[in-house]
Amino acid sequence: MDAVAQSRTDDNLPFEVPAPGKLILFGEHATVYGHPGIAAPIDIGMRIRVSRDPQGPRLIRPRFKQYFGETEPESSFDLFSGAVQLGLSIHNLENEPIALEVESDLPVGMGLGSSAAFSAGVCKALRRYTGHQGGEETLFDEVQQLESIFHGNPSGMDAATVLADSVLWFRKGPPREIRPIEIPTPPSGLICIVEPGGSTLELVRMVSRNLAGDEGRVKGLLEEIGGIASQAGTLLGAGNLVETGRLMNRNHELLAQLGVSTPQLDRATALLREQAGVLGAKLTGAGGGGAVIALTAPGEQHRLVESLADQFPLVIPFTAVHGTD
Ligand code: PMV
Repeated sequence: MDAVAQSRTDDNLPFEVPAPGKLILFGEHATVYGHPGIAAPIDIGMRIRVSRDPQGPRLIRPRFKQYFGETEPESSFDLFSGAVQLGLSIHNLENEPIALEVESDLPVGMGLGSSAAFSAGVCKALRRYTGHQGGEETLFDEVQQLESIFHGNPSGMDAATVLADSVLWFRKGPPREIRPIEIPTPPSGLICIVEPGGSTLELVRMVSRNLAGDEGRVKGLLEEIGGIASQAGTLLGAGNLVETGRLMNRNHELLAQLGVSTPQLDRATALLREQAGVLGAKLTGAGGGGAVIALTAPGEQHRLVESLADQFPLVIPFTAVHGTD
């Protein structure tokens, strides 16, 4: 009996696979055009549970917490379901009596990597179910395939980050560059949920249209964002959080000029910058709404979560996952 068949006949069900979310610290949108980005897996994520189900294979409809009283669109379940179907077909599990279930501490659709975390969690769960050994080098491509169901043609930064165990330097390439950044103090701060998130697909298309319509200006903005990500990688490696925070502020301004911020996100970052202990603030992810992040000085995070709690629908402390933790 081969390794695959062995695992499926074992009664190893149910089991759960953790799937962390991510934050883009620097470089969103510019990454699509080959510039570098910096992103971090975070200590907030999802769990994918696999159990025996005679009606399977199927995805049990996830109940994600909604922050703005909106009802979850049917299309959102179709995307999650489509990603599961693709994962099942990659692993030849189209007739398997299993159910997948998601539990999430990660606000969904806020630029915090929920689609990448879900894609990575599903791929890892199906691999575990089949007893798939090794093949780590193909896992990125598999996750990227599932992520593409949500985002069309993602740069790969989200997929790379949710599979990483430390802050990452990412460049789409070719050749693709994915490098952990050695950081003396893992960055920590606040995630502030501000308003309903925008569609990554639409925002990436909008930037592409703007680039076609006003090439000189938009190309310049994307280049400056890439340059900031590059400098931030060096500053983070040197443990210089104060200058890293300043670069975050500048990165936000450039994203606003790119047209992916909103008045609410601008107001949120301005409010955060006024707080003692906040080193910098920016939107995170594709923009058009969603969340902003603030980098906080060591020891200030929890006081700030409390003092800002009534300013946002939700304030969550984050710490970048770091391999040496
Ligand atoms: O999926 P989001 O909202 O976290 O944003 C992805 C980051 C982009 O740079 C906007 C797109 C990409 O593929 O890099």
